[in-house]
Amino acid sequence: MRFVNLDALTYAGNLENVAGLTDQPNYSFELGDITDSVLVERLFDLYKFDAVVHFAAESHVDRSITDPTTFVRTNVDGTIVLLQAARNNWKAGQGLFHHVSTDEVFGTLGPTGLFTLNSPYAPRSPYAASKASADHLVRSFGATYGLPYLITNTSNNYGPYQFPEKLIPLVLNNARQRIPIPVYGKGDNVRDWLFVEDHCAALEIVLFQGSIGSTYLIGGSQESSNLGLVKALLDVYDEKTGQASGHSQSLISFVQDRAGHDFRYAIDSSETQKELGWSPQHSLIEGLKKTVDWYMKHSSWLSNILDDSYRTYYKSQYDNR
Ligand code: TYD
Repeated sequence: MRFVNLDALTYAGNLENVAGLTDQPNYSFELGDITDSVLVERLFDLYKFDAVVHFAAESHVDRSITDPTTFVRTNVDGTIVLLQAARNNWKAGQGLFHHVSTDEVFGTLGPTGLFTLNSPYAPRSPYAASKASADHLVRSFGATYGLPYLITNTSNNYGPYQFPEKLIPLVLNNARQRIPIPVYGKGDNVRDWLFVEDHCAALEIVLFQGSIGSTYLIGGSQESSNLGLVKALLDVYDEKTGQASGHSQSLISFVQDRAGHDFRYAIDSSETQKELGWSPQHSLIEGLKKTVDWYMKHSSWLSNILDDSYRTYYKSQYDNR
């Protein structure tokens, strides 16, 4: 099996993240943007893809609030470019288009209940709306053109290589630099945390065993309030860095809440578990420990990725090949 990784290397991307794959004979990296239809058509022609797993997205809600247009461009325009290329290059009923999506398309929950396959679409941030649009486009290509597709809607991911704008790596980065850790509002919003390796395992099972035209919900079943999560994470960090328990909690700083902040996400993945035999293998605390270990071991990665010149250097390494 051959893998082609198409990545635009935007601010959150970094070739160093896939450095371990470069030497694999069945792996190719292509620098480019999914909104570039000429490029995408050329890649379909070149590699004769059997399947597309579409992970490429702008994904940070706060950025979508300040710059919604970029989200529509990548997440909606980019998805239609990939879908059109699939339609143009695959005969009806051939190929497989797997759209990797989010539980945020379902909006926000109150203190109880879970998102299920029957939850109505009710996105509330520009990010969530752009991913909801992409989900609808994928289903429409299935119904209209017979495109074989799969959709996965997944809860909050965390783990190695996550860009330090998302809550968990941001906390670790700020703790390392001993700078304030911003917690929005009172920190009582709730998220369902999924360790990235559990997500990847689910995606692989869905891709190879999922039934065409289906949607699968994937969650960690590990809910925490943001404040509870930040405190638990800092406890792990303090323990692993030999600090007294509670040492880093003084860095917590309550800041103005996010506009339209969704109160709670929680997802019922029991159908996926029953049908495909997948289940998350990491409790939140186990996942946090692994994550802290990784970021401590890769502290230079963390400083480098925040440095523009470093990313430009890595991008130029590719351009100069
Ligand atoms: P985030 O990692 O941005 O994911 P999402 O918004 O997709 O859930 O944020 C997770 C939660 O943490 C969310 O409720 C917003 C909150 N948050 C903070 O309190 N402080 C921060 O600095 C960030 C980035 C997020």
